[in-house]
Amino acid sequence: MTESRDAGPGLRNPLRDPRDRRLPRVPGPCAVVVFGVTGDLSRKKLIPAIYDLTNRGLLPPGFVLLGFARRDWDVGDFESLARKAAEEHCRTEFRPEVWERVANNLKFVQGSFDDDNAFDELHHTLDELCASHGIKGNAAFYLSIPPAAFPVVLKQMERTGMADNEKAGGWRRVVVEKPFGHDLKSARELNDLVDHVFTPDDVFRIDHYLGKETVQNILALRFANTLFEPIWNSHFIDSVQFTMAEDVGIGSRAGFYDSAGAARDVLQNHLLQLLALTAMEEPVAFDAEAIRIEKVKVLNAISIPDDLEHYAIRGQYDQGWLAGQRVPAYRDEENVPKDSRTETYAAVRLGIETRRWAGVPFYLRTGKRLPRRVTEIAVLFKKAPHLPFDKTDTVELGHNQLVVRVQPDEGVTLRFGSKVPGSAMEVRDVSMDFLYGEAFTETSPEAYERLILDVLLGDATLFPRNLEVDASWRVIDQLEEFWEGKEPEKYRAGEWGPRGAEDMLARDGRAWRRP
Ligand code: BG6
Repeated sequence: MTESRDAGPGLRNPLRDPRDRRLPRVPGPCAVVVFGVTGDLSRKKLIPAIYDLTNRGLLPPGFVLLGFARRDWDVGDFESLARKAAEEHCRTEFRPEVWERVANNLKFVQGSFDDDNAFDELHHTLDELCASHGIKGNAAFYLSIPPAAFPVVLKQMERTGMADNEKAGGWRRVVVEKPFGHDLKSARELNDLVDHVFTPDDVFRIDHYLGKETVQNILALRFANTLFEPIWNSHFIDSVQFTMAEDVGIGSRAGFYDSAGAARDVLQNHLLQLLALTAMEEPVAFDAEAIRIEKVKVLNAISIPDDLEHYAIRGQYDQGWLAGQRVPAYRDEENVPKDSRTETYAAVRLGIETRRWAGVPFYLRTGKRLPRRVTEIAVLFKKAPHLPFDKTDTVELGHNQLVVRVQPDEGVTLRFGSKVPGSAMEVRDVSMDFLYGEAFTETSPEAYERLILDVLLGDATLFPRNLEVDASWRVIDQLEEFWEGKEPEKYRAGEWGPRGAEDMLARDGRAWRRP
């Protein structure tokens, strides 16, 4: 949908209007202001995404990127950093003539977050850019900064009037990176502040998993087909496993990570969002509000087991081997305290207290320094109630499974029993695969490309709303309270997590899938 017809979040319905879906969605003239523009996220994701969007012709001619950071730089320094970032991390081909278009519309303002003069200059520069680029006041502010700095930056925007749609004469939106708060209380405080400074509909909370094609495909798989929905309930489903495994360690993020841990870093957001999409009811429309309503219902229906000792497991990686290389223990990573109790692995069993899901366990696990990077959702169906075959012929028959491979090898696999060729009636599991890379000629955009474009178009469908954030923290707060002061279990880097996580499933007569 084009900007001129963009009626704001909640009103676009591309699934219902096929003409609409085919139109290239290009926003009107606008600016993106990035706070923390020299940081990791900006260099690896945001600037490359802006380059890719330009390369795909999805940004308007009147577009400016305005960086704000502490470094004592001029616009030339910023341009070299941005060019390097785009060259190294862009998804589409790097073409110097496309980069020229981006480079001609870059600006940089230097300053710290508590510096009123710097914010006044930012305000002034933004106004000038709007005038020189034919931008009718439209600007998105991207907070790619440590959570502790959110309040001061938001207050500066309030003081200068930069967040005010009316004063600006166009839309003013804010993009807040996760983690959105540290617990329920701080998330609510932050919500109050951000909703006070900006109009609530102009607040875009980023969970980049929702920008992934494969994650959006969960909704297509469930609601565009007749095949799966009739069996998507406790009558047919035995259990669901969510795995988000990473082989990397914490890199240079100790400052943030050691005060967060795996549960706050990814369970609270990415994994609970995957659970919500997998378990929610069909939305009445494919728009922000209708989807939010269904996700919130599921998140509010989550129950945690009484026996957390056995069903909420935390781990921390010890030294080990990965891809033939020796890697250090978490406590030996740079800037991590030697006695840190922060978890780098978390696994938990959750329930959903609804008629559809009564009694179905949802197992979630995530960890760093696991054998490989893989994110998947495995829906395990109940075994056939009766097998008319000889028992010895079905020993290798497991649960039917539908596996959504979020990454890598994006696609969907269906596992079911099949007869082994030969004279006996031996039945064994086989897989049927759909691979994005083979089925479509287009490659998937990066999550940040999609999400930045949606912010500029005012489409909030793929952004969690504050009630979802609230409901997710209510789950995590209970787990954190139970874990408080306890030592996480050690697991060797390069292995699939701590013993306790294996025992958790074994206690239920199940086992984790080996992705
Ligand atoms: C981020 C977490 O949100 O997601 C990181 O803060 C994690 O710890 C990252 O590494 C993983 O993202 P992806 O897209 O590579 O799976």
